[in-house]
Amino acid sequence: MSKIEVTICLGSSCFSRKKRDIVSALQDYIDQKNLSNRINLKGGHCLGKCSVGPIIVVNEQIYTGITPAKAIRIIEEYLSTQNN
Ligand code: FES
Repeated sequence: MSKIEVTICLGSSCFSRKKRDIVSALQDYIDQKNLSNRINLKGGHCLGKCSVGPIIVVNEQIYTGITPAKAIRIIEEYLSTQNN
């Protein structure tokens, strides 16, 4: 099973919009559910979509207007797809 690639935009615009909360929420989620073998979490550069940030990219799909809860919901959808 391939890992789910999650990139969090670390650009300054996304950063100013609570990016830090998203990073810690996702990292906590991965740690608590023991998912480090299934999810690869990393930071990325500005994607030029600052006006609709914060941004995360999951398996090359861009998601905008991210909150910690929304980020976790998206990851859960990918995980459930992989489980089926
Ligand atoms: S800073 Fe995140 S898209 Fe530009």
